[in-house]
Amino acid sequence: MRRTALATVALASAAALVLAGCSSRTADETAGGSGEEAGFAADSLVGVALPAKTSENWVLAGDLFTEGLADAGFESDVQYAAASGTVADQQSQIQSMVTKGAKVIIIGAADGSQLGTQVAAAKEAGATVIAYDRLILNTEDLDYYVAYDNAEVGRLQGQALLDGMAAKGEGPYTIELFSGSPDDANSAVFFNGAMEVLQPAIDSGDVVVGSGQTDIQQTATQGWEAENAQSRMDSLLTSTYTGDTQLDGVLSPNDNLARAIITSVKGAGKDIPVVTGQDSEVESVKSIMAGEQYSTINKDTRALVAKAIEMAEQLQKGEDVDVNDEESYDNGSKIVPAFLLPPVIVTKENAAEAYANDPTLGPIAEG
Ligand code: BGC
Repeated sequence: MRRTALATVALASAAALVLAGCSSRTADETAGGSGEEAGFAADSLVGVALPAKTSENWVLAGDLFTEGLADAGFESDVQYAAASGTVADQQSQIQSMVTKGAKVIIIGAADGSQLGTQVAAAKEAGATVIAYDRLILNTEDLDYYVAYDNAEVGRLQGQALLDGMAAKGEGPYTIELFSGSPDDANSAVFFNGAMEVLQPAIDSGDVVVGSGQTDIQQTATQGWEAENAQSRMDSLLTSTYTGDTQLDGVLSPNDNLARAIITSVKGAGKDIPVVTGQDSEVESVKSIMAGEQYSTINKDTRALVAKAIEMAEQLQKGEDVDVNDEESYDNGSKIVPAFLLPPVIVTKENAAEAYANDPTLGPIAEG
């Protein structure tokens, strides 16, 4: 978990110098720390390897990177993995960025545990590697991580599920749990964050998982594919919710899956339960305003891409790279210095406020 504000203050006064030295890394250190020259040419190549377009945020990210890196004066190479579930594509895209001499490689991993060789090659060639949105696992060679705080996303989802059900009536409540794709390191972080909030309610008997499927392997949605979530929900409805058996809530890790779950429930002629989401996708914000999906999470892609580009600019100038968390994201080989942005929970109640500055979602949320 993240260091609390109080603990930070206490530590800071006790060891201000040590902490100051820890709060950022210089380009020189990330380049190997052995006196290599800091910084690099302002028009250098920055590679961006993104996963398949499994949600709107990835589509938007590609365009924003292309535009933003050009504005910052970099040459860019922005690539997507062709289809979810195939990592080979992304591996060769990253390898080609290394060969072309990219100085920074920003990666939204298609499969967080299968990029160690490519990240090592990048490091060896002198590039700095930044994991974007999804952590890259089991490698010492990853330099930075920039993301919305995924554990907090999960906690917000868990809390929204409880709040939404409480607003509808008294417990005990019957729920089902869904998680994301097992090859995405975020999936477990979202799920565990949500379970931090839900487990006490399950333990006390206030919340019951109707199917008994509480293990992340049972709840997983391969490839983040909507059809996989829909067919699992179809099966759950048949096995567990026949007749008048009520389903009060569903933990869904993102919007695309939330809509698939709602489609399934509607198809079975059941009342729509409280369903969580994430990503503020247009169709889900409409669904929330229509009183169907209960919540989503606002993780403004513009802010995340801007932060990643700012890191590249800091590296280019040989400046310290801004990080604000050096303890939460252990990738199995090291704690990865991270810059985490705060996610925001959105329901019908605060949608207008949450999207006030969003030209697309603002008008939808206004109703
Ligand atoms: C992202 C989510 C997204 C999911 C599927 C995750 O890694 O953090 O925002 O919904 O991938 O694309």
